[in-house]
Amino acid sequence: MGTTVVVGTQWGDEGKGKFTDLLAQDMDMVVRYQGGHNAGHTLVVEGNTFKLQLVPSGVLYPHITPMIANGVVVDPVVLLEEIKRLSAAGVDCSKLVVSGNAHLIFPYHQALDVMAERHLGSNKLGTTKRGIGPAYADKAARVGLRVQDLLDPKIFREKLAMVLHERNPLFAKVYNRLPFDLEAIAEQYLDECGPLLKPHIGDTVGLLHQGLEHGQNVLFEGAQAMYLDLDHGTYPFVTSSNPIAGGVCVGAGIGPRYIDRVIGITKAYISRVGSGPFPSELTDAVGDHLVDVGQEYGTNTKRRRRCGWLDTVMLRHAVRVNSLSDLAITKLDVLDTLDTIKVCVAYEVDGERYDTMPYHQSAIHRAVPVYEELAGWGCDISGVACRSELPKAAEDYLCFIEEQAGVPASLVGVGPQRHQYINFSSTVDLVNPTR
Ligand code: GDP
Ligand code: IMO
Ligand code: MG
Repeated sequence: MGTTVVVGTQWGDEGKGKFTDLLAQDMDMVVRYQGGHNAGHTLVVEGNTFKLQLVPSGVLYPHITPMIANGVVVDPVVLLEEIKRLSAAGVDCSKLVVSGNAHLIFPYHQALDVMAERHLGSNKLGTTKRGIGPAYADKAARVGLRVQDLLDPKIFREKLAMVLHERNPLFAKVYNRLPFDLEAIAEQYLDECGPLLKPHIGDTVGLLHQGLEHGQNVLFEGAQAMYLDLDHGTYPFVTSSNPIAGGVCVGAGIGPRYIDRVIGITKAYISRVGSGPFPSELTDAVGDHLVDVGQEYGTNTKRRRRCGWLDTVMLRHAVRVNSLSDLAITKLDVLDTLDTIKVCVAYEVDGERYDTMPYHQSAIHRAVPVYEELAGWGCDISGVACRSELPKAAEDYLCFIEEQAGVPASLVGVGPQRHQYINFSSTVDLVNPTR
């Protein structure tokens, strides 16, 4: 089975958490390789709901080693709260390993995120205000502090003093805000978080390669998604990391030749939270219906998600950029009661038809979707357990997506619970590969 990457093909919230949990059964390690607590991954197992932000979605299985790799940005206060919450719910987090090279998020990152959004006014990006962008900016500017610095008070203070020396005048003069106090931060990060995180801090790259050398199976769990990718998304309405499959190499420290399978998690329609272009967005009653039935509200931020029809121009591009081997189509059940279902198969921009993604951002802003219309199935599929039980119209919809994408839809989600999925492939069973 080797290594598998789970990556979102849209603008996030496709159901990556649910499918990571499902696929983790036969894995040895589950690794988060980018993003931070801007992610909200939901798992529903035997009626219990878990909302994960930083801890990898494989954590529910005692045999898994969950890892937060170097490419993630970590707010240690949030991580410890998450560990505490999970432990209180009976989840054992003792095997969690956090890379010493992962960068830290500080209160001044969050403040900068909030103020940058305020400054942009109506042009705001709609970030999660968690400090993600400013933390990655500091990493790129080489003034970031890393998780390993929590274990070295002298270096921690020296680096933090340098940063605050530069930042505090900015907060005072530009943002009219009180300066950040080094001692207060040091007390929280070094004295409170450091000792609690110490047992978890380690060499994730070393552990990963040891595991691979021993034939272990590894699942890489993407956060965010292809169109929120800093390089390949709808810039500037993106996050500040690289969720695409290629991000695994940098964010976890393995070469591209180690990646065996890439599963694109694709919602049967699309949602987006925050600003930015969305050609197939529905601002009518059907859009409201998708929000209501799909419960499209942010897992952590509770923001209402914008909804629209599936867009196969986006999907085909995601197949290319991520070298997707399979799709997992999620939330098919949300479409149960629709008479007809539209799929955006091309764009029209200034009278010209585009079957592939226009490279120029303003073309995406002006793109008018070209739709194909398919019949709905008009019945409840949430209890369907295998392909042969699916209504013909639902199977046709899935086959249409496969044809448009050019890769197989190997798994299909028909409800939020772990067991609510169908193995749609006749050749592979990704969840139970050995059976
Ligand atoms: P992620 O960020 O990609 O992990 O997705 P989120 O957890 O933010 O949002 C997906 C939501 O859809 C969660 O509430 C899941 O419990 C739910 N979900 C996942 N798969 C399915 C499915 O197949 N059907 C339905 N109805 N809900 C699903
Ligand atoms: P998961 O992993 C959906 C969006 C924000 C905003 C943009 C930038 O649950 O799919 P940021 O705080 O990252 O600087 O915000 O990215 N965003 C997400 N949208 N799901 C997510 O994560 C997201 N993480 C960030 O709404 O538009
Ligand atoms: Mg989410």
